[in-house]
Amino acid sequence: MKKILILNGPNLNLLGKREPTIYGSETMEQVLAGLEKAAAEHGTAIEYAQSNHEGELVDIIQRVGFDTDVYAGIVLNAGAYTHTSLAIADAIAAVPLPVVEVHISNVAARAEQIRHTSLIAPVCKGTIAGFGTRSYLLGMLALLP
Ligand code: DQA
Repeated sequence: MKKILILNGPNLNLLGKREPTIYGSETMEQVLAGLEKAAAEHGTAIEYAQSNHEGELVDIIQRVGFDTDVYAGIVLNAGAYTHTSLAIADAIAAVPLPVVEVHISNVAARAEQIRHTSLIAPVCKGTIAGFGTRSYLLGMLALLP
């Protein structure tokens, strides 16, 4: 079975201590442990990458995005770059690998208007938002055959 890349953007390395009323108190390590278990139950495996840098996220999408023999897709929480990054949107559009956009919070319900816009949504296979850290699990399941 092909692998799934879980890719996090800026500030998601702070999960657990970052605005816990919005993003919860679970750390990304804890989330990944749950994802690894669920992936194994479905006969697949995950890889994880995180960067606070827009260009590095583009590099990772370019590197993995053509490797359709090895990867089934990318679960991407692009963080704030969701709302600003045409470069990440272009990278997703450039590669054949499906990308599922995920968000921990329900971005459509957030107070800041800018969070209601996603530049990456039109080039992703679909979007999952608002289910807390379970959004990652739902995104992963969406990529399974
Ligand atoms: C987020 C929502 C974004 O608006 C925010 O910038 C994040 C996290 C989420 O998972 O809810 O960093 O992507």
